[in-house]
Amino acid sequence: MEKLAQLLQHPPSPLETVHDELFAAKGLRLFVKRDDLLHPQVSGNKWRKLQHNLLGANRLGHSKLITFGGAFSNHIAAVAAAGLDFGFSTLGVISGEADEARQNPTLRFAKACGMALHFTSRTAFRSNSPNDLLKILGISTEGATILPQGGANCLALPGCRAIVAETEAQLGHLPDYFVTACGTGTTLAGIASGISGQGCKALGVPVIKGGFMQKEVENLLAACGETPSTNWQIVDGYHHGGYAKWTPELVAFINDFKRRTGIPLDPIYTGKAFYAASQLAKEGYFPAGSSIVLVHTGGLQGIAGFNERFGGGVIEA
Ligand SMILES: Cc1ncc(COP(=O)(O)O)c(C=O)c1O
Repeated sequence: MEKLAQLLQHPPSPLETVHDELFAAKGLRLFVKRDDLLHPQVSGNKWRKLQHNLLGANRLGHSKLITFGGAFSNHIAAVAAAGLDFGFSTLGVISGEADEARQNPTLRFAKACGMALHFTSRTAFRSNSPNDLLKILGISTEGATILPQGGANCLALPGCRAIVAETEAQLGHLPDYFVTACGTGTTLAGIASGISGQGCKALGVPVIKGGFMQKEVENLLAACGETPSTNWQIVDGYHHGGYAKWTPELVAFINDFKRRTGIPLDPIYTGKAFYAASQLAKEGYFPAGSSIVLVHTGGLQGIAGFNERFGGGVIEA
């Protein structure tokens, strides 16, 4: 239990001031909320989303976490590491074949943390509800907390909401903008639910094609009993072709950002969100004098898998 108490008593993630000539030339102040530094393995928004879910599992007397994800999923890696660190056994239902996943660094890591892996075809994964998938695979849910893919549930919101209060305390005021990547939209929903008043807006950058993120976030906020607000907005058009798709411009941006600031970004989530913010700054989207906080939601474990798939060293170490 003492260990679990650390979930709420962690120090705030650093808020780094970043000097970026593009932003400075437009009269903008740029900060990066380094949630990637919250925990060595349960990094970024995974930490924020899992905090209250782990406490909830403990309250229910559950000793096991069951979850779902793709073969390169940051969520799978984070749940496996969190289980090991906080004393839960873990089981991951993975979309894809066991053979193709054998050499995958994310799943090797999850396995090394003690996660039991169950594979299912992509079609079965897509077309069945989580509960049906567990039934088909014959997995017992006794004594287990079931976490949805991406950790997208209402218990994920309070952890993400804390980003706002932490940042306000660090800056001495709310920033004009938060910018975060959107996969399920949960992190954006959490941040939006923590903003009070009119001066601050949370921008969400979908990393997936399809134009459905606005509805996803609205639905999640409503399902979790949050009042609708205008303090968040989806900024579409920066997915670079879709989930885990990339362009040479994106990779060049990530490598350049790391060289200039020392801050590593992943190509699936944070690279796309930070690229979007930089394009918006270039286009004059942010009024001069604005303060902008880019939320580093982690995901750096995915770089190894990305470089293996797309040719070694695409993202510079
Ligand atoms: C590193 C990283 N950043 C951002 C996101 C997107 O977060 P959300 O699913 O809460 O929109 C994810 C996926 O959950 C992620 O792994």
